[in-house]
Amino acid sequence: MNLKDEFEKYLQNTLPCVESYHPHFEDSLHYMLNAGGKRFRPLLLLTVVSVYEPLLLNNAMPVAAAIEYLHTYSLIHDDLPAMDNADLRRGFETLHKKYDETTAILIGDALNTHSFFLIANAPLSNDVKIEVIKELSLNGGIFGMVLGQACDCHFENRPLDLEQLKFLHIHKTAKLIASSLKIGAIIVDMDEKTKDELYKFGIDLGLLFQIQDDLIDVLADEKEAGKTTNNDEHKNSFVNLLGVEGALKEADELAKKLELNLDSFDENLKNALKSLLQKYLYRHKC
Ligand code: IPE
Ligand code: IPE
Ligand code: MG
Ligand code: MG
Ligand code: MG
Repeated sequence: MNLKDEFEKYLQNTLPCVESYHPHFEDSLHYMLNAGGKRFRPLLLLTVVSVYEPLLLNNAMPVAAAIEYLHTYSLIHDDLPAMDNADLRRGFETLHKKYDETTAILIGDALNTHSFFLIANAPLSNDVKIEVIKELSLNGGIFGMVLGQACDCHFENRPLDLEQLKFLHIHKTAKLIASSLKIGAIIVDMDEKTKDELYKFGIDLGLLFQIQDDLIDVLADEKEAGKTTNNDEHKNSFVNLLGVEGALKEADELAKKLELNLDSFDENLKNALKSLLQKYLYRHKC
């Protein structure tokens, strides 16, 4: 079984059961986790673990799931009318459309909190778990994703300069992606230097990921994207600031930089990441 299938199986088998008289609390909690998605962040973490300590893969699963829970919460809130106001996510109606806004707010909150419950209960040493919690809360919260989302929404209709644009996207997207790689490195107890190199690589990868996401908004139809498109008109997206050509050029430059930086990793990690990142790094060569 490949890593994605293994992760998917783990996620499905461990969906929280919640017995209550609420008519749809449990269904709405499972709804967006069940809807699929690329599982990009957990796969980054699991790829690092599979290269250095394959025997730890099962122990790392709850942490990989935790990152996916936190990411899924960010998507549920991102789609709310007060944020991006989107109707389609992962090929399904967004959570607030399927149920209601109250449910979407609360399920987002629940997934956020539960991600830390999952880490706390993972079969890993307490030292590792504290480092993981520090990393995820740092990059997914007020110093990371939440700050990025706040800038993204506050500066709608107010164009930022290129440096501010990068700050926004590094915070809203790249930090969680970078920390997914670093958390893999924490679990396998890599040295500080390699952890930092992986994190820096992840920041560039996250920026590339967001540029490609911004391109999807204007170039893909909703069916292939599985989410509402043409929705970034008022946003500080790379496409709005640089144009499609400019965004493609920026993506190509980042992809080339990442390809070069892959060489600083050892052969096994380089090959594993190359295969996972194929479609992001070599888009310009397809
Ligand atoms: C979408 O993330 C939001 C961004 C940060 C660009 P993904 O593109 O990883 O969404 P899923 O998880 O595959 O649905
Ligand atoms: C959202 O970015 C990033 C998150 C932190 C959720 P977008 O608003 O561009 O993500 P999509 O395009 O709706 O998936
Ligand atoms: Mg958004
Ligand atoms: Mg959005
Ligand atoms: Mg987008």
